[in-house]
Amino acid sequence: MKAILMAGGSGTRLYPITLAVNKHLLPIYDKPMIYYSLSIPMLAGIREILVISDEESLKTYKKLFGDGSQWGLRIEYAAQDSPRGIAEGLIIGEEFLDGDSVCLVLGDNVLFGHDLPKNLKKAREKAEKGGAVVMGYMVKDPERYGVLEFDESGRPIRILEKPKNPPSNYAVIGVYFYDSEAPNIAKKIKPSWRNELEITDVNNEYLERGKLDVIKLGRGYAWLDTGTYESLLDAGMFVKAVEERMGMMISSPEEIAYRMKFINEEKLKLLGGYLNNTSYGKYLSRIYDNK
Ligand code: DAU
Repeated sequence: MKAILMAGGSGTRLYPITLAVNKHLLPIYDKPMIYYSLSIPMLAGIREILVISDEESLKTYKKLFGDGSQWGLRIEYAAQDSPRGIAEGLIIGEEFLDGDSVCLVLGDNVLFGHDLPKNLKKAREKAEKGGAVVMGYMVKDPERYGVLEFDESGRPIRILEKPKNPPSNYAVIGVYFYDSEAPNIAKKIKPSWRNELEITDVNNEYLERGKLDVIKLGRGYAWLDTGTYESLLDAGMFVKAVEERMGMMISSPEEIAYRMKFINEEKLKLLGGYLNNTSYGKYLSRIYDNK
């Protein structure tokens, strides 16, 4: 399985902060927002990742990630010249995927919780066998998201994009696992009322084919939004509180690369040394010292 990271969009809800900077480069406490979503495929054991953004922002992403080899990854880049929808990422990424299954991740999703790697692995393995897997998370304002509707037996029957009257409180989070059919499905869907190729339409197609699984993430998880001034600040405060309390980092690509055995101790030491002027770098060195 490969991954696609969506880091485009217009970011208008965060103007003027995002007038000159791509939203996913904004800080969530001690790291750029994009680190949190990059961590998701890494925790699923995926090492080949395509970053999609507008041409201008890609220059910055290339500075930030390079070819990914410092973290034991292979990172490639592709441009989306205008935000025509999340599902367009599957079409843009078709050549990169080259017939492989895919984990599609939205660059503004922060996800943290107990057993996350286990659930990601489960979703990955299911999609690799065929079909799609999405994750549902209980929120108090579901009308802002794609929302799951269930029948009496709790089986998903439909997903509605930003419904005025949500049929449940389960939002579909921005981490999707698909088999190799996904680009073909994305090519068939039509733009929505907001003129976007909706990822919800791709998910509904899998659902209609009887090939969509839903993993519900319970109380042990935090799925944080970063789309408004308040939620951006809240996400930063959440990360700060957890990191300070535990003395451990959330979503450090260097640490994940090491723990997933994408890089060895020597490489981790080098990365820690490089950032050693900061508490981030000192933390990396500590992992190495404590093994
Ligand atoms: O966060 C989860 C929600 O994400 C889902 O519940 C919804 O079903 C899904 O449609 C999406 O909702 P939004 O409408 O809020 O997505 P937004 O337009 O904010 O874009 C999400 C991310 O994808 C953001 O990081 C920017 C990126 N993006 C978006 C579009 C439309 C792109 O890279 N290209 C695009 O064309």
